[in-house]
This record gives sequence, C-alpha cells and structure tokens, in this order.
Amino acid sequence: MTKKRFYITTPIYYPSAKLHIGHAYCTTLTDIFARYKRLRGFECYFLTGADEHGQKIEKNAALAGKSPQEFVDGIVEGFYKLWEALHISNNDFIRTTQERHIKVVQDIFSAMLEKGDIYLGKYKGWYCKDCEAFWTDTQVGEHHLCPDCGREVQTAEEEAYFFRTSNYIDKLLKFYDDNPKFLLPESRKNEMINTFIKPGLEDLCISRTSFSWGIPIRENPKHVIYVWLDALTNYISALGYDSDHPELFNKFWQDSECETIHILGADITRFHAIYWPMFLMSLNLRLPDREFVHGLLMMKDGKMSKSKGNVVDPFPLIERYGVDAVRYYLAREVTFGQDGAFTPEQFVERINVDLANSLGNLLNRTVSMIDKYFEGMIPAYQGQVTLFDQGLEEVAKHSIEQYEALLDDLKITEAIIAANEIVSSANKYIDQTTPWALAKDPAKQKDLASVMNHLANAIFIAGMLLKPVLVTASDKIFDQLGISEDLRKYENIYQFGIIGNVKVQKGEQLFPRLDQSVEVEAIQAMMKK
Ligand code: MSP
Repeated sequence: MTKKRFYITTPIYYPSAKLHIGHAYCTTLTDIFARYKRLRGFECYFLTGADEHGQKIEKNAALAGKSPQEFVDGIVEGFYKLWEALHISNNDFIRTTQERHIKVVQDIFSAMLEKGDIYLGKYKGWYCKDCEAFWTDTQVGEHHLCPDCGREVQTAEEEAYFFRTSNYIDKLLKFYDDNPKFLLPESRKNEMINTFIKPGLEDLCISRTSFSWGIPIRENPKHVIYVWLDALTNYISALGYDSDHPELFNKFWQDSECETIHILGADITRFHAIYWPMFLMSLNLRLPDREFVHGLLMMKDGKMSKSKGNVVDPFPLIERYGVDAVRYYLAREVTFGQDGAFTPEQFVERINVDLANSLGNLLNRTVSMIDKYFEGMIPAYQGQVTLFDQGLEEVAKHSIEQYEALLDDLKITEAIIAANEIVSSANKYIDQTTPWALAKDPAKQKDLASVMNHLANAIFIAGMLLKPVLVTASDKIFDQLGISEDLRKYENIYQFGIIGNVKVQKGEQLFPRLDQSVEVEAIQAMMKK
C-alpha cells in the first residue's frame, strides 16, 4: 500500500577523507528516488549529513594542525559543494556536531541507562581504528584482519558502556519475520541472521575513553559515546525528536502514513539492520519501513584507495561530462543492490551508447525531421494512423507501468532500463516507418504527420521518466520539443498524444559523442591526480 509521504535518508558521511565516486553513488541514487517520488506528487523529506566524531577524525585533525571542529568544518564544505554539483535535492543536512543532535544523543543514552538497556563493563576485543569497530575472533580470522577494510586490527581493552542486545534479539527476529520487506535485497537479511545473530550476538560497546572527540556521557564524562549510537541517532535528531519542535518528527517518523526508508551501503548493514532497530525498540519508537542495501562501487583492482591511485573524484567528471551524464552512469551502470566496478572505458561507452547514440540521436533526428517536413510544427495527434503507431504506444504504456513498479521497489537501474525501452522502440519506429520515404509521397502526408507526433510524444514520455536522473537534460529535451511549462507534468505521460501543435526549437546536441580513447585517457589522468 502506498503511503502519503516519504522520509528518505542516506547514511551520514565521515569527513575523514575526500568523497569519491563510490560515496556519490549512494547519495545520487537516493536523490533519484526522492525526485521520482516528488515528481509523482508525494511529499518527500530527504536527509543526508556528516558523521563528525571519532578517533580517526581526532587523529587526522591533529596531523593537519587543526582542532577537530575546524578540521571537519573544512571537509564538510566540500560535501556541500559536491552535493550541489550533483544537484542533490536534500531537505536537510545534519551534522553530528550540531547542538540539536548532541542533546538528543545524550538524552537517549540517559533513557537507555535508566531503563537498564545500558550497563558499564569492560571491553576487550579486536579493534579496527580505521573503521572504528570492534570485531570478534571469528570475524577477524587467523590473520587478525578487519572484515570491512582488510587492515590489521589490534586488541583493545577499556572500561566501556554496553548496550544489552540480548534484550532485543527475539524481538528483532520477530520483526524481520513480520516485515519481510524491511531489509532489501532479501539476501541481506539472511546474512544478518546467519553471520551476526545466530553465531551469538554480543552486547554492543557504545562508549570509549581512549579519545575525547565525541559526545560526552553526562553521567560519566570521561566517556564519549561510541560512534554508532551517535551516528544512527541522526535520522531522528534531524527531525526534531526530543526537541521543542517535534513537528517534522511526528510527520515523517511517527506517522504510519509516512514511509520511512534508509538507503545504505553493504558495509554498514549490520549497524542499520541490527542495532538501529534495537535502539528504536528500546526508545519505544517506530521502526523504519524499509532499509535498502546497495552494493559497493569498486575499481578493477579492488577498493578505491589513495595509495592505489585509483580514486575517482566526482568533481572533474561532472565538470567534463556534465551532471546528467555522471548521474546517469551511476544509476544505470551498476544494478542498484549489487556490487560493481568503475572503469573509464565503461563510463565513456555507457554515455556514448545510451545518451549520445540512443536518446540524443533520437531527439536530434526527430527535431530535424519536424523542422524539415512541417516547418518546425509538431503535428497534432490523430490517433493510430500508421501500421506501427499502436506498437509504439503500447511500448510506452508498458514501459511506464514497469518503470513505476520497479522504482517503487527501489529497483532504480531496472526502472531506467524500462524507460529506455521507449527510446529504443522509437528509434526502431523511425526505421520501420521510413519518414524520408513518406515525405516523398503526397498520399502519405497523414502518415508522416502521425510519425512525427508519435516520436515527439515518445520522447516526451522518456524524458519525463528519466527526469529524476537527467536533472538538467530532461528540461532541455522539453525545450527542444517546444513543450510549455504547464504541460511538463508527470501525469501527462499517461495520455499519449498530448504533445502536438507546438513549434520545436532545435538546440545543441545534448550528448555529443565522446571519443573513446581521448576520454579514457582523460579519466585516467584525473585518477592519477
Ligand atoms: N558514517 C558512516 C555512516 C553512518 S550512518 C548512520 C559511514 N560513512 S562513510 O562515509 O564511510 O560512507 C557513507 C556511505 O557511502 C555508506 O553508505 C557507504 O556504504 C557508502 N560508500 C562508501 N564507499 C562506497 C563505494 N565504494 N561504493 C558505494 N558506496 C560506498 O559509513
């Protein structure tokens, strides 16, 4: 059942390093979903932010000769710029160093302590400084390597507060059973149960004394709250939970008419799918409706890392190819939910094949033909005239249905493929109807007019379906087709033929064909920088 409103979040990013294309992946795909929902008329609140505490930040700030706050302020500036360059349409940006967040985390800690869900104990375990995570013997294996980043872990022992996970394991498993769509893709749930819960879930260490850059625990200020309880709370502190202004919280979290969706990368599933629901249960709050786990965007030689010199910085890519091409590549190349690899070759190929040859070329040919045969006026819709009109209309109808069903299910890549069906069918339709031959036959002018109308309408529909991805190009497509502002509405795609009797305005080629070898070299040079 579709809800009235949507609350959609990305994880909040660590300001410990520059964001790379893998980070941009998560936020861009979330943005596509948020834009799609808004396009369909839903109210949608989209949150992202920065996760600013922890030992690693304290250490990096010291190395940079700055206070941790100054250090993160500088890096977060870069986040703002990147999200702006990618046209990310977030409604809020939460920083865990903001007062509005700190107070909530401290209050939550106190409430859990009072309830008996938190106790003081001693922690001894394998600690990965880079991931700021403790791991068990089985998880680090015989070589004592962090299962997330692969770096060596060290043993650590200190007095610490723990969250009593045992109080909530049965409730969590029941919640999974009762809500089979909570954690997607399905395989992630099995991974949580078999890898983390069944082997025996330990209580979660939620405080540290070995560094001070964190939110102090009021009851025992030598402890700072360990990063995950701090970080996860952002999803509700940003909405004004536990504040004098809980309006957004009531509207987007507690109200069952709102669908709450967290989107996150596979490396942080356990924190979102196990501990976060437990924290919320402890606070007697509603749980999110869905958590969608996407795969990681890697390089051919594994994870992106500065030392390997394979980090892809999204800024120069956006500068050279435009925001639409970068967003399109991210959403289309790697199926959302699966792991994938970035290669310069595939980047260029994807833009050339889908955007330059297929969509761009279709628009170009259509506008040129309308110019040539009808002095730029798109003929009015006259029903199904040629033998192929019905087929194209059916493809459009089917694609819209597919696209909506897939996108509602967060199958973003598959939804784009469904939208592209219209583009490829329209290109095929040109070959089938051979407008250049119709133009020569005075008896076929009605057919020719119908072909031009069908092409314009097919492009309008495809442009609308791709609008959440092609944030600037879709409007340029509509401009070239002469479509007025008031017709640029999503609901108009259901009425094939709505576009007609308007004058096209031939513009520049939206996606000029890229020279494969020149561009591959250019991207490789960006990576070396
Ligand atoms: N700060 C935590 C999240 C706390 S949420 C309460 C964190 N930050 S992160 O900066 O390391 O990652 C932010 C997001 O980017 C995560 O969803 C992570 O999975 C995603 N990605 C980081 N590298 C990625 C790729 N190479 N590919 C795809 N997504 C990637 O984790």
